[in-house]
Amino acid sequence: MRIENTKKCLLRNPHELGTCRLLSNESIGRISLGLVEINPFHMEEYLCSTVSLSAVKFVRKMKGGSQSILVQCDDGRFYVVKMIGNPQGANILSNEFLGSAIGAAVGLPVTEGRIIHISNSFLDGEPEAWFESQSGRRRPDAGLHFGSLLVGQPFGSERPNEYFSRSKVSTIANRNRFLGMYILDIWANHQDNRQAIFLPGVDGRSQAFFFIDHGHMFGGPNWIFQERPGGALHLESSIYDSLWNDDIVSSWISHFRKTVPEVLNRIPSIIPARWYNGNLQRLVDTLTHRLARLTELVEAEATTSRLLMQRSSENEKM
Ligand SMILES: Nc1ncnc2c1ncn2[C@@H]1O[C@H](COP(=O)(O)OP(=O)(O)OP(=O)(O)O)[C@@H](O)[C@H]1O
Ligand SMILES: [Mg+2]
Repeated sequence: MRIENTKKCLLRNPHELGTCRLLSNESIGRISLGLVEINPFHMEEYLCSTVSLSAVKFVRKMKGGSQSILVQCDDGRFYVVKMIGNPQGANILSNEFLGSAIGAAVGLPVTEGRIIHISNSFLDGEPEAWFESQSGRRRPDAGLHFGSLLVGQPFGSERPNEYFSRSKVSTIANRNRFLGMYILDIWANHQDNRQAIFLPGVDGRSQAFFFIDHGHMFGGPNWIFQERPGGALHLESSIYDSLWNDDIVSSWISHFRKTVPEVLNRIPSIIPARWYNGNLQRLVDTLTHRLARLTELVEAEATTSRLLMQRSSENEKM
């Protein structure tokens, strides 16, 4: 790792001000990151540009296995935050971070991923944000957590929506990106269905979308790679109607081969150590190997994928 060790910056966390030392500067796609050492936090290394975000207001708990929370940060924006120690498993935060960084780097519409500081005083004052289990409530640790910029508004008619009507599939703008995301998910061995948030497009007639939830990419929370053909498709398979085209699939594969290696090789040095439990370099090696084999991996899924996509078209005709 390159260490510049020159600049100092001040954390903008209103509760726990402290100094940090800039170790290196990185940029991944449109995300600019600096690796820093923060003095008050046991000399751990964190990402600088995103450390300046702090949760200031708890809005509500979100549904789902990771027990994420919706918070407002000191930039005024809202984020769905997955916290260290969440019940889904050890590598959820690093998977989210990798998925957002890689998705953004290849130009797919993923939500912006940020690192968010949550303080002790915030957590002490908001027991509703704590993890819940049969044995009671457990307070998450203060520190750095992963936030996905909220799509839409937290309240009212623009509340985010994961559902859409089948009859409106043709109104989804840039629907071909679902095929691109599917190819990326095959590469990443995504162990869950692909999720997206839909919202009205600017023209009021079309629908825009953003991909969310990358926690089960990269072999899932334990980084165990198991092929499951068609398993990473969006649950509403009509989204893929008439999208499959061998030439377009090949061009996605070439695009990923050109764009993924750079971001993949830069990430290990900048993921906070508490966000994973496993051999990160081995994960990168596995993913690099899968990129070389991507045509073969996609071909192994192609029959299942084509069948599923055809079936959805046929159902619609019935
Ligand atoms: N960036 C975002 N903008 C709007 N809503 C979001 C965003 N990220 C997540 N959500 C919503 O937050 C909830 C939890 O999201 P997510 O699926 O990532 O968590 P999860 O714990 O993995 O849930 P599940 O186990 O149901 O998959 C969902 O209702 C999802 O629609
Ligand atoms: Mg989910």
